[in-house]
Formats: sequence, structure tokens, C-alpha cells
Amino acid sequence: MDTENLIQAADQARQKAYAPYSGFRVGAALLCRDGRVFTGCNIENASYPVSNCAERTALFAAVSEGYREFEAIAVISDSADFTSPCGVCRQALSEFCGPDFTVFMCNSSLAYRQTTLSALLPFAFSL
Ligand code: THU
Repeated sequence: MDTENLIQAADQARQKAYAPYSGFRVGAALLCRDGRVFTGCNIENASYPVSNCAERTALFAAVSEGYREFEAIAVISDSADFTSPCGVCRQALSEFCGPDFTVFMCNSSLAYRQTTLSALLPFAFSL
């Protein structure tokens, strides 16, 4: 799948976000090594810390379906700024994704900045 299609998938997932408290809708599309794509949105809760980010929704959907090898993720929100994964999601991704895993940080116009997990999370914690 090419980058534009991955971003389109993230943007579609954003439409499904449940974000009544922040009003900030986020979508993610995670590309597996075999080409399959899992998407996710943020899902908020009245008890705020229970909320889940779009990236982890996509990651957990993939892992729970037996996928553990990933190439890239696209992240998009309603913002005109490029959306960058939060620290918790960086750590969650580092469990399954190597340092060269590609992160496309998108804005609401579908433009993107490309980086890597190691650039976003140097010295990731692991056991
Ligand atoms: N959010 C994400 O889904 N991904 C991120 O990387 C940053 C934050 C969500 C969590 C919450 O529902 C809303 O954005 C505002 O923080």
C-alpha cells in the first residue's frame, strides 16, 4: 500500500473517533509486513484515563488478530498541525516495531511528515 492510501485509511478511521470530551478526533492506520492494514480511532471515556489513543487501538486490533510485524503507521487528527504520537503510544509501538519503523505524522489536509520510531523514542525501554 502506498503512503497516500495509508493516510486515507487513517483519515477514514478518524471519522469513527469517539471524542466527546476533548473534541479532538484522531485516526491511525497501521501497515503490516504482509500489506494488511489495521485502523483505529481514539475512544474516550467519562473516566478520562480509561480513554485509548488511535494508535494503540490500531496496534491492539492487529496484535489481537495475530499480526506482530509492522512497517509503518499514519496518524491524523482534526488539527492543521502534524499529529505526533503521544509518549505512551510510542512505547506501545516499540514493543513490536523496530527502530526503523516509519511514522507518518499527518495534518488535516493529508500532508505529512515522515519520521522513525527511533527518532521519536530514543533509548526505548525494553526487558
Ligand atoms: N490522542 C490520540 O488518539 N493519539 C495521540 O497520539 C495523542 C492523543 C487522543 C487521546 C484523546 O482522546 C485526545 O487525543 C486528546 O488528547
